[in-house]
Amino acid sequence: MKTRGLIDIAELTTQEIDELMLVASDIVENPERYAEKCKGKKLATLFYEASTRTRLSFESAMLDLGGNVIGFSDAQSSSVSKGESVSDTARTVACFADIIAMRHPKEGAPLVAQMSVNIPVINAGDGGHNHPTQTLTDLFTIKRELGHVDHLVIGCCGDLKFGRTVHSLVTAMSRYPGVRFVFISPDELRIPEHIRAEVLDAKGISYVETTSLDDVMPELDILYMTRVQRERFFNEADYLRLRDSYILTQEKLKPAKEDMRVLHPLPRVNEISIAVDSDPRAAYFRQVKNGKFIRMALILKLLSENA
Ligand code: NCD
Repeated sequence: MKTRGLIDIAELTTQEIDELMLVASDIVENPERYAEKCKGKKLATLFYEASTRTRLSFESAMLDLGGNVIGFSDAQSSSVSKGESVSDTARTVACFADIIAMRHPKEGAPLVAQMSVNIPVINAGDGGHNHPTQTLTDLFTIKRELGHVDHLVIGCCGDLKFGRTVHSLVTAMSRYPGVRFVFISPDELRIPEHIRAEVLDAKGISYVETTSLDDVMPELDILYMTRVQRERFFNEADYLRLRDSYILTQEKLKPAKEDMRVLHPLPRVNEISIAVDSDPRAAYFRQVKNGKFIRMALILKLLSENA
């Protein structure tokens, strides 16, 4: 049987996503029931690109399941600096670990790793492509905050071109009924054509694109803010010109619905003013917390499926 990891959110059915959210909710309520579920198991975190939340959230998830963690957070300190391929590194790590979480600047690297080993590989972000566990975190947060993930107007704002979290979020949300998207970005950072063609148009999902956050604020149920992805720009001048395109302030939030929620995968740079943090609609630090629980549910699922 082929080993199943999670490279792209599209690999999970809607039912599987809903089940993961149910398990995650149960973990929130009854953490002690899960405290030894992964006793004797090891997670390897292979992070070839900067991370705070995702790596620590994966590691905390495994520790809270009673398992152990190995790995690297700086590829330069590993044999990668000697020129080892992703495939060889993955094969080596699979001799020690039961499951891998990998982040890599190159699109497709976690897939290459998955093809090289027979333990599950979870994509923890590959270049400007995908970030499926952030999306599970986002969906779980929306569910916990608003009670449902269908029939919502989702505004995605900022760097929709390079922001991998948006690409995965749109792919996942577009299967829930009654979801509508509003894409707010400068022209240069619009949502990629392949997402429009293969996801939105293919499924007949309604969406609009605009450069004005103010115009659309009153209609949003979720405002998903993103950072302009400096590391994926070809030139610094473009980054500097675009980085402060949107800055969410208390003033800008005034016309928003009272039960709207602001999400952000974090890290934030300038795009949300710190004063917004105390607004009850600011859900981004609660979102960080949720990430650990949904990753616990995912690790449990993949380890039991591949046992
Ligand atoms: C995001 C990422 O790495 O894509 N961060 C995260 O995982 N929480 C978003 C970002 O870096 O802007």
